[in-house]
Amino acid sequence: MEVLKVNNIKKTYGEKENQVHALKGISFSVEQGEFIAIVGTSGSGKSTLLNLIGGLDTPEKGEIIIRKHNIACLNRKELTVFRRRNIGFVFQNYSLMPVLNIYDNVALPVTFDRGKHVDHKYIKDLLCELGLWEKRKCFPRELSGGQQQRTALARALANKPAIILADEPTGNLDSRTAVEVMGLLKASSEKYNQTILMVTHNEALAQACDRIIRIEDGKLYGKEETGIGKGGDAV
Ligand SMILES: Nc1ncnc2c1ncn2[C@@H]1O[C@H](COP(=O)(O)OP(=O)(O)OP(=O)(O)O)[C@@H](O)[C@H]1O
Ligand SMILES: [Mg+2]
Repeated sequence: MEVLKVNNIKKTYGEKENQVHALKGISFSVEQGEFIAIVGTSGSGKSTLLNLIGGLDTPEKGEIIIRKHNIACLNRKELTVFRRRNIGFVFQNYSLMPVLNIYDNVALPVTFDRGKHVDHKYIKDLLCELGLWEKRKCFPRELSGGQQQRTALARALANKPAIILADEPTGNLDSRTAVEVMGLLKASSEKYNQTILMVTHNEALAQACDRIIRIEDGKLYGKEETGIGKGGDAV
């Protein structure tokens, strides 16, 4: 089943002589359960793409269809609820809440979603698997960069979202921890049939994904590669 369709999206920042054409017409589609790596040099448009897919910003051209919803057709309130129910984010800058401890940061997306109760066992399992259980009562500023990054990842998984958008979730981790985190993401995606779009600069991690999408200068670059795993022939 197709979970995401990105149709010829364009995004320009700034005005007149300061304009940056961050995305110049990108199209692809993604099946439920696919684990996709997005690679490309710094400034090529990877974070812009994830922000648009997550509805945090709007493209001036093109459409983004998630689970049959054109996200441009949702009003702000609907979009907020849709995002919370369907999408987990891991941002490049972690964006943890400084006044909340690690446990509460991770539980936050669930706490926000009234009508759902926090699955303490699942959150405990996540924190244990990510080596954060001992740190659950600490505040983000008391954690290392890698620990904060793993907290952001746990938070993205807390809701068991259909789609996870992860902007370099392993960027600040040593190679062994990066491989472990990657394994956790893979296991989670298999267990809950989650779709993952992960930006990475690490070619070895990208090769371990089902498919690689390469972006260069705001455009898809080259032929898409299908790695081991499910693969796909979209575009
Ligand atoms: N809010 C913004 N205002 C103006 N220009 C922006 C903004 N965000 C990104 N850009 C520009 O758009 C282009 C794409 O940026 P983007 O952050 O998507 O790159 P990236 O591929 O994620 O890079 P990196 O690997 O360094 O994170 C860059 O030239 C960047 O300077
Ligand atoms: Mg980026």
